[in-house]
Amino acid sequence: MCGIIGYVGSKRASDVITEGLKRLEYRGYDSVGIAIYNGGIHIRKEKGTVEEVSTALQFTNLDGHLGIGHTRWATHGAPCKDNAHPHHDCTGKVVLVHNGVIENFIPLKSELEKKGHRFNSETDTELIAHFIEQYMNDGLSPFISFIRTVERLKGSYSIVSLIEGEDKIYIARKNSPLILGVGKDEMFCASDIPAVLNHTKTFVPLEEGDIAVISKLDYTVYDHFGNQIKRTPIEINWSSEMAEKGGYPHFMLKEIHDQVHFIYESLAADVSASEDLLNLFDNIQLVAAGTSYHASLVLKYLLQKFKGKTVESIIASEYPFVSFPTKDTLVIAISQSGETADTIQAVRYAKQCGAKVLALTNVVQSSITRVADKIIYLNAGPEVSVAATKTFSSQLAVIYKMLFSGDKNIDLSQIPQIIETILQQEEFIRSVAAQISNKKNIFFLGRGLSYPIAMEGALKLKEISYIHAEAYPGGELKHGPLSLIENGVPVIVLAPDDETSSKMLGSLKEVKTRGAYVIAITNNPEIEKEAHISINIPHLNPILYPFVLTIPLQLLAYYVSIRKDIDPDRPRNLAKSVTVE
Ligand code: F6R
Repeated sequence: MCGIIGYVGSKRASDVITEGLKRLEYRGYDSVGIAIYNGGIHIRKEKGTVEEVSTALQFTNLDGHLGIGHTRWATHGAPCKDNAHPHHDCTGKVVLVHNGVIENFIPLKSELEKKGHRFNSETDTELIAHFIEQYMNDGLSPFISFIRTVERLKGSYSIVSLIEGEDKIYIARKNSPLILGVGKDEMFCASDIPAVLNHTKTFVPLEEGDIAVISKLDYTVYDHFGNQIKRTPIEINWSSEMAEKGGYPHFMLKEIHDQVHFIYESLAADVSASEDLLNLFDNIQLVAAGTSYHASLVLKYLLQKFKGKTVESIIASEYPFVSFPTKDTLVIAISQSGETADTIQAVRYAKQCGAKVLALTNVVQSSITRVADKIIYLNAGPEVSVAATKTFSSQLAVIYKMLFSGDKNIDLSQIPQIIETILQQEEFIRSVAAQISNKKNIFFLGRGLSYPIAMEGALKLKEISYIHAEAYPGGELKHGPLSLIENGVPVIVLAPDDETSSKMLGSLKEVKTRGAYVIAITNNPEIEKEAHISINIPHLNPILYPFVLTIPLQLLAYYVSIRKDIDPDRPRNLAKSVTVE
C-alpha cells in the first residue's frame, strides 16, 4: 500500500503535495518522491520518511502549479532511491506514481525491453511510463496512449501521471483507492480524502476501472474504452480525526473493512519463493506467535491434508526448547511485523541447526527478512490497530495462494467479494455483541480447519474486550471444559457445512443442554435451528471457510470492546510489535 497525490491549480504544487504526503504517510513510509512540472519535469526522491526526504531534498523550493507525489510501502523491490516513485520513461517526459500491484509485469517488461526500453528500477510501476512512451512513439496522442496502457495492465492500480507539454494530470484506478477532489480553480487526486481535506470537501467518487483527466478548471471521467461518463460529485463533512481513519471511528474497524481490498493485493503477492522449497522438503516446521500462530495452524492443516507433508506448528517462544530441526527441515516463519523477537530467535535457532527458512511477513526489510533465506510479502499495507485483523486474512490469502494457485477447483478470486457480503451483516453482529458484552467468560468451539479460527476469535475478543475467552476443539469439551458451562454462558460455535458439521451439532447440543447461550456461525440449517442466534455465512468450497468465519469474529470482538468503552486500537498492556523475548 502506498500513498499517492496529484495537484493542479494556482497554489504552489510542492506545498500542497508535501503537506498531503504527510497525511498519507500512514499508508507507507519507506521512501518518498515528488515531481513538479514547470516547463520541464523535475523529480526529487529518496529513501526515508516524508519529513526526512522533503526537508533534505527541499521539496518546497520547487516552483510550479502542477505536480504529483508518492510515499511508498515497498512491494516490488527494496526501499531505495531507484525504486522510490515517481518513475519515468526513457526520455523523462512521462512521469508517474502508482499504488497497487501489476500482476503481468514480467511479460510486459520483457515486451518493452525487446523494443529497446531501458529500466532504472526493480518496480512494476516503471513499465507503465515506458508503455505510455511507446504508444506516443507509435504516433498516438498522450490521452489515447494513457488509455491503451491502462488497458494492458492486469492487477490493481491507481495511477497518477504527468506528461511533458500537457497542463493536466492523467489518472486511473482499479481495485486500488483513488479520490478526485474538486476545488475552486484547482483539482486534486489522492489515495485518500485526508490528504486534501483542508483544501476541498467536494469529491468525485471514482469507480473501479475509471480513468480521468484533471486540469486547473475542469475534470473529465472516462470508462476504460475512453468514452466520457458522468460521475456526480459529493460533499463530505469529516473532522480531521475521522478523515485520518477514512471516516471510521477506529483503525481496527477501518482495517476490518479494508480486508476486501487487501486480500486482493495479497492474492497478487509473489509467492514464487515457496515453490521449490515446498517441492524439496517433506519435513516442515511452522513458527509464529499470537494471530500469526493461528494462521500457521491453517497452513499446517492444508500442508498435511492436501500436500502430504509432515508438519509441526510451534509457538515461537517455545521453539528452541521443544524443536530439533535439521538440514532436511524447512521452517516457515510467519510474522506480520517481521520484528517479533520470539519468532526471530526461533529463526536464528533453526538456521544454526542447518534448516532452511522461508518467512512470510508484511514489512519490507523488517528484521526477519535479514535472517530468513527466502521471503514472501503479504502486501497488506501498514496495520495500525494493535489487534491484527487484515493481516491475518492476508496471511491466509498468501498461504492459499502458495498452495492452491493454479488449482481449478479452488477459486481464490471470489474471496474479496464474499468478505464484502459478510461485512453487510455488521449491524446484526453489533446487536449480537450487545448481548454478550457483560459476560465474564465466553467459549469458542471449532473442529478441523475451523479450530484455529475459533482460537483467533477467542484471542481477538480477550485482547480488546478483556473478557476471558477460550477456544476448544468441539470434541474436547467432555474431557473437562464442559464443567465450566452454566446458565447463560455464551458459546460461539463455528459450524460451516463441512465434514465437521454433524459432530459440531453434537457439541452444540452438549453445551445447550447445560444452559449455554449458543451463537452459531454457520450455513447449516440444522445448526441454525438449534442455536439461539445464527450469523450466516455463504456456501463455499469448504476449504475457503476460514476466510468467512474470521470476519464475524473480528466484528464481534470490535463491537464488544466498543460496548465496554475500551479503545480497541490501544488495548491495555499490549504493543503492536513485540520486540522483546
Ligand atoms: C493479536 C496480535 C498478536 C500478534 C503477535 C505476533 O491481535 O496482533 O498476537 O499476532 O504478537 O506478531 P507478528 O505477526 O508481528 O509476529
